[in-house]
Amino acid sequence: MPSIKVALLGFGTVGEGIYRILNERKEEIKRETGCVIEIVSILVRDKAKKRLATPGTKITDDIQEILSNQEIDFVFEAIVGEEPAYTYLSDAIEKGFHIVTANKTMFAKHGPALLKHAEFRGVQLGYEATTAGGVPIIRTVASLLPVDRVRRIRGVLNGTSNFILTKMREEGIPFKAALHKAQMLGYAEADPTDDISGKDAFRKLMILSALAFGSQPNWQDVPVGGIDRVTIEDVADASKSKLRYRHVADISVDEKGAVHGSVGPVLIGIDHPLYGIDGVNNAIIVETDYLGALTLAGPGAGMYPTASAMVGDFLQMIRKSEKVLVTI
Ligand code: NAP
Ligand code: HSE
Repeated sequence: MPSIKVALLGFGTVGEGIYRILNERKEEIKRETGCVIEIVSILVRDKAKKRLATPGTKITDDIQEILSNQEIDFVFEAIVGEEPAYTYLSDAIEKGFHIVTANKTMFAKHGPALLKHAEFRGVQLGYEATTAGGVPIIRTVASLLPVDRVRRIRGVLNGTSNFILTKMREEGIPFKAALHKAQMLGYAEADPTDDISGKDAFRKLMILSALAFGSQPNWQDVPVGGIDRVTIEDVADASKSKLRYRHVADISVDEKGAVHGSVGPVLIGIDHPLYGIDGVNNAIIVETDYLGALTLAGPGAGMYPTASAMVGDFLQMIRKSEKVLVTI
């Protein structure tokens, strides 16, 4: 049977999730694609770290071992931060590898350039997992675009913030303890500053803006606030008035084509579509000319939701490019 060879960049929460799903669903993937998936290499920062055993897969800390392996068809990227991720992916595209990334810090800034580069080189680039974890928002907006026009996208885009606000409200757990739980569950970034300051949701909003409107507003013009100033007393007071805090990212395009965004905690009432979105869930409301309003909701972070979005991209890409991929 032909094989598709892949490399993983990163073997933390998300990278390990990809490895697990590709192994757990080996037979189904074989049936679906007619190919065996071989994970040939995994890139990490620290080779000495104790981690899940990966028999038959090389663990390396040298990106050149992957980039120089001409047998590799796909690279899954789940490392942290803008660099070296952008350079690694630019080089991988240049080598002709197809890419699936979860790295929103890198993609918010460099996504448009990477997409152009990928198109130029005739390779595919999947980025579903950069935004809203397991919720298929990228695929959905992309599928609406040829016919419809998106006017506004708003919603909860950071699972950690929503989890913390929910724990504070439901269990009276203080902010720091709730954040610690989110870290233990693999929802928060290694450095959670961007989660709680609103920057993470902002970056996801910029990814959605580029996709839906073909442009991003000037980053400096978008007010960005986080949940770090919301206290347990604020949450309890809001509850008494049947209100809830939600961390909402909002982007819209006006009649002149200018794009406006905002990110921050807002108080919402029981009739609001985001009122019931609790825990690590994200929810996104997309408003369009023809469809009206569409709401998607589901887990916005964590190992399996994120990794399943990446494997979903991967399978879709295999279907699209049957002819270029298969190495026997
Ligand atoms: P993580 O648990 O901190 O794992 C990061 C992995 O990347 C580790 O294996 C680390 O190596 C490796 N790494 C980091 N910098 C590297 C470098 N410069 N060179 C080589 N390897 C490097 O992070 P994660 O939660 O899996 O997240 C991975 C990416 O997915 C991030 O960009 C994150 O924003 C994004 N994301 C995460 C989630 C989530 O729910 N966790 C959801 C959506 C998107 P070592 O193991 O040796 O330290
Ligand atoms: N730290 C992010 C969050 C992971 O909590 O939403 C998913 O992008």
